[in-house]
Amino acid sequence: MASSDQEELKYLQALNRELDAIIDSSHDGIVIADGEGNVLRVSKSYERITGVPAEVITGMNMRDVIKLGFVSDSVTLKVLEKKQSITISQRFATGRESIITGSPLFDENGKIVRVVTNVRDMTEIKQLEKQLAFSQNLLKRYQTELDELRAQHCSLGEIIAVSKEMNEVLLSALKSAGSDATVLITGESGVGKDLVAKFIHNKSWRNKSPLIVVNCGAIPEQLLESELFGYEPGAFSGAKREGKPGLIELADGGTLVLDEVADLPLIVQVKLLRFLQEKEIWRLGGIKPVKVDVRVIACTNKNLEGLVEEGRFREDLYFRLNVIRIKVPVLRERKDDIIPLIRHFLQKYNQQYGCSKKLTSEAYNFLVNKTWPGNVRELSNFLERLVVISEKDELDLDTVKMVADQKENEEKIKIEILSPITLKEAKEKLERELLLAALKEFKTTRSIARSLGIDHSTVVRKMHKYGLVKN
Ligand SMILES: Nc1ncnc2c1ncn2[C@@H]1O[C@H](COP(=O)(O)OP(=O)(O)OP(=O)(O)O)[C@@H](O)[C@H]1O
Ligand SMILES: [Mg+2]
Repeated sequence: MASSDQEELKYLQALNRELDAIIDSSHDGIVIADGEGNVLRVSKSYERITGVPAEVITGMNMRDVIKLGFVSDSVTLKVLEKKQSITISQRFATGRESIITGSPLFDENGKIVRVVTNVRDMTEIKQLEKQLAFSQNLLKRYQTELDELRAQHCSLGEIIAVSKEMNEVLLSALKSAGSDATVLITGESGVGKDLVAKFIHNKSWRNKSPLIVVNCGAIPEQLLESELFGYEPGAFSGAKREGKPGLIELADGGTLVLDEVADLPLIVQVKLLRFLQEKEIWRLGGIKPVKVDVRVIACTNKNLEGLVEEGRFREDLYFRLNVIRIKVPVLRERKDDIIPLIRHFLQKYNQQYGCSKKLTSEAYNFLVNKTWPGNVRELSNFLERLVVISEKDELDLDTVKMVADQKENEEKIKIEILSPITLKEAKEKLERELLLAALKEFKTTRSIARSLGIDHSTVVRKMHKYGLVKN
């Protein structure tokens, strides 16, 4: 071979490698065929997208590729037939969806010498499109539901939610209402956990059935088990002769809210766990289980994880309860709710006490910036006291500050009992102390009466009784 020929061969080989490298680096699949439909080159990505082995079909005619069932349709053949660029969409055995474009390459006589086919994988884009549409739909649905709820304010069950944080809470609550999963509502005391639990029940398909709220901390330990699970006749001494259904049974078809769930004694925790697993309860002294269909919502202001670590709360029960978790944020983390809450409670207590008191803007300002360690409950109590105690219709900064200070003072009243006294004596001692504290604070006996929540005549009578009459 002449040396110039050799050089040309080398040059062509290098060009060939370069072309292969270019083709293989393409993210789209590429197939090159000649004017008869014989496959000349196939890129690696073509194999990845279509699942058709590149080595096998290289050298084959496209008609055979179809005949052997590697692909269902061939753009190459279509291009050869129509003598123009063609685009089709195709789904391969890999499940991947693609947009395929074939383009003809003509020689100087107008004859097709090559068909270059580009396979663009659309699977991910299609999936993302689907996901996006789905999420957008869902969001729209929740948004309309929430808007509707807001529009007919009362159906929020008197829940004030203006802040972004509280709206997120209600959105999660609304989502959870659609399922039967157990919900654990956490958050500091007074943030509105009970209210959220009721909201979930009201928005769930169980809303025509009972909502039973059990305050696990308020029922004496030895009674809790029989209250929750009920008992059969003669189960224990002091039991009713005819037996008694438990609160769980009473909630059948509806929702059971376990308030202050951290206070459940360990033995009741075991029984409750069994109920959650088996959806049936055993009454005390019962000989067969009773099927109950109840959705459980648990509330707590304690750190349940900590209690689990200390062994005071069963881990398995914790997992059963903590399926959906909703945390209600403290008031200081959602300041946007404070003014709407103040308006709400002011209106409520004005109505309740037949007043029409209004806060000045400085007073509003003061209340928004005050810390509320007792959260919404403290705010509500504060406004009630404010409405009751204040004498003028205008609640200005001084009045609000006075009530705020007075509350702190009142909390400091301490009665010491050094030796056993009768209840009557203790009551009198407390009454005298309360009157004394109120006397220091207020100018008139009428305001004393309002601050203590008793009649004016009672104040006067008791002041005489305790020798506290001012001269
Ligand atoms: N967003 C709200 N809108 C209107 N009232 C509210 C709101 N949040 C709480 N309240 C009121 O505040 C008081 C306390 O709320 P709730 O009893 O639900 O608190 P909690 O979180 O269960 O507290 P605890 O942990 O002490 O049981 C209730 O009277 C409730 O009606
Ligand atoms: Mg509560």
